Amino acid sequence: MIKRIGILTSGGDAPGMNAAIRAVVRSANSHGVEVLGIRRGYTGLINDDMVELHNKGVGPLMNRGGTFLFTARSKEFMTPEGRKKAYTNYKNRKLDALVAIGGDGTFRGLKDLSDEYPVNVIGIPATIDNDIGCTHYTLGYDTAANTAVEAIDKIKDTMQSHERCSVIEVMGRSSGKLALYVGIATGATTVLVPEEKWNFKEDILYKIRNYKDAGYNHFIIIVAEGAVNNDEGLKIDGNAGQVVKDLIKERTNLDPRLTVLGHIQRGGTPGVRDRVTATRMGCLAVHSILEGRKNRIIVHKEGKIQDIDLDEAIKQKSKLYKVERIILEEMTGKVKG
Ligand code: F6P
Repeated sequence: MIKRIGILTSGGDAPGMNAAIRAVVRSANSHGVEVLGIRRGYTGLINDDMVELHNKGVGPLMNRGGTFLFTARSKEFMTPEGRKKAYTNYKNRKLDALVAIGGDGTFRGLKDLSDEYPVNVIGIPATIDNDIGCTHYTLGYDTAANTAVEAIDKIKDTMQSHERCSVIEVMGRSSGKLALYVGIATGATTVLVPEEKWNFKEDILYKIRNYKDAGYNHFIIIVAEGAVNNDEGLKIDGNAGQVVKDLIKERTNLDPRLTVLGHIQRGGTPGVRDRVTATRMGCLAVHSILEGRKNRIIVHKEGKIQDIDLDEAIKQKSKLYKVERIILEEMTGKVKG
């Protein structure tokens, strides 16, 4: 019989995390299950930093960005000693399951804990990068993309008025999904991503030329922060936007301007897609526990919210959606010499 579950948020915050917490609390309480909120991710599980959450108190969470439970990336939890302390608190607090909301690092933590101890863990995917292989959608992606698009649309007005070139760095340390999505939505001249090696001539210069040939005099170059793979022999350490801006300045007669969108993309009120998906995922997490399934990850696949086995989930690697790259190539024109 399930009586009490714990919930935490871990890794980078993402809009929709709070809405997912609300859904878990509401759904659990409606089945007579208590919920303990664990603060600062796995750090709170190690330090026994927990608060009771109730139906009534979670109402305002639906439209709040960030995570009111705080988040952290716990180094201690990566050690067997840290996980031992976490399990001791899980047991002492009489938890029947642990729900963790976060990215792939969070899920690896769940795997390690459940491999070593008799716990029941459930993961809910949340990261603005949308880079978890087992799910087509992670909470926060759509809101972050809308935030970036709103900012880029504004920058574009100035670029168009002054006939300038703008380099815009968006988040994505190891995934270009956000950059591509935003690139399509803003009609970018080109998009550079971590997953693909780029080359100045083909991926930047020729794209600018294509745009010039089409009658444009302003250019939007979107660079994921982790777009470090290049054929130029350049060593880039997380500052891809700056490097690309300097190259354009050196090798063309344009006067490029750089905007790093940074953490503005992670905060803010979640949009409808994130609120509704968070609520659906939170409810399914509780039902999965109540129905006796063990060690699951909630995913959005083939248009459905489902729960799948943690071991299977963790094996799947994130890949760029080919179709987005094809769309972008067709929109920006084929490379020509
Ligand atoms: O949330 C994921 C992410 O946005 C990455 O794309 C980015 O590199 C990272 O967070 C940065 O996180 P922080 O600034 O918290 O270290």
